Amino acid sequence: MKVPFVDLKIQYRDLKKDLNNAVINTLKTGEFIMGKNIENFESAMSKYLHVKALGCASGSDAILLALMAEGIGSGDEVITTPFTFFATAGAIARLGAKPVFVDIDERTFNIDVKNIRKVISKKTKAVIPVHLFGQSADMSGLYKAIGKNKIVVIEDVCQAIGAEYKGKKLGSIGDYGCFSFFPTKNLGAGGDGGLITVNDKEKYEKVKMLRLHGAKTKYFHEYIGINSRLDSIQAAILSVKMKHIDDWNKKRCKIAKIYIKELKNYVVVSDTADNLNHIFHQFAILTSQRDELLNYLKEKNISAGLYYPLPLHLQKCFLYLGYKKGDFPISEKISQQIISLPIYPQLTQKQIKYVINSVKSFFDKKSL
Ligand SMILES: Cc1ncc(COP(=O)(O)O)c(C=O)c1O
Repeated sequence: MKVPFVDLKIQYRDLKKDLNNAVINTLKTGEFIMGKNIENFESAMSKYLHVKALGCASGSDAILLALMAEGIGSGDEVITTPFTFFATAGAIARLGAKPVFVDIDERTFNIDVKNIRKVISKKTKAVIPVHLFGQSADMSGLYKAIGKNKIVVIEDVCQAIGAEYKGKKLGSIGDYGCFSFFPTKNLGAGGDGGLITVNDKEKYEKVKMLRLHGAKTKYFHEYIGINSRLDSIQAAILSVKMKHIDDWNKKRCKIAKIYIKELKNYVVVSDTADNLNHIFHQFAILTSQRDELLNYLKEKNISAGLYYPLPLHLQKCFLYLGYKKGDFPISEKISQQIISLPIYPQLTQKQIKYVINSVKSFFDKKSL
């Protein structure tokens, strides 16, 4: 038995006819940059997310564009979590602003809103909550922490497309929402792709220009923007796949439920806190024997993931910020103990059982 961490080949097999048609039809039209595919996909996503949406080249660019639209740069501070993918903080630093980290909640791995108020300063321009692994951050707590301060909220929804918070789709709550269509995401393209949602009409128009070198009319530039368009072939692929996202997310939740029930006596399993909807982009478990378990699973032909082995405040590129080991103890502890088990809609019952039995047998053997 073999259990890959993700299997995009099966997803393609299931949607082959529609995906092939979508790509071939785009090739036939020759409309590769912007155009109908982008308009159709943006309109479908706007409807799905209940907020205006704009395609862009990647999730990383979506975060960058949101920060650019707010004019954030040198001298500004942006609060976020150190337990996320690099791009969240990378976008802040690329613009010359300072990422200000806040430790995470031990149960959800998301920013601990209790700690936000302490780091708000006159320089704070924005906060980027990350809905990590597919679970919403505590958005009410976050807004309470911000209070009356004029701070923009940029949701990093790169791992949580389709998840909700108190009945609202993630990405429609903050000022901006940033999505990634990296192929392994719950909704993945056939390459890079991203989407940015914008709540304010004026800001929406600004982002629309920023992604096209700051121009509304070609060759007339109102802002210094970037080239960050969603590729038209990717938009065609995503339009086919997005019809399945709710069904796929439901299947992930079903698998997560089985994992939780079967493994909760062996490892610390994902904890879905009250009201925090989860679409299980990752299924994370915690164990003090992480590396041994990882090797054991590898021997059993099960690929597990490690997100993330080193929190951002300890990354070489961020040493200039002056953080040190011990500053964010929960992020540091979790990065030593976390493993992500395979979770995707196409996993078979046999594969799920095999993963569960393998994890159990690792701990049973240890206790002999
Ligand atoms: C939390 C988070 N933020 C940002 C990104 C960046 O997205 P992309 O890879 O599309 O640039 C990712 C995805 O890789 C992510 O998981």
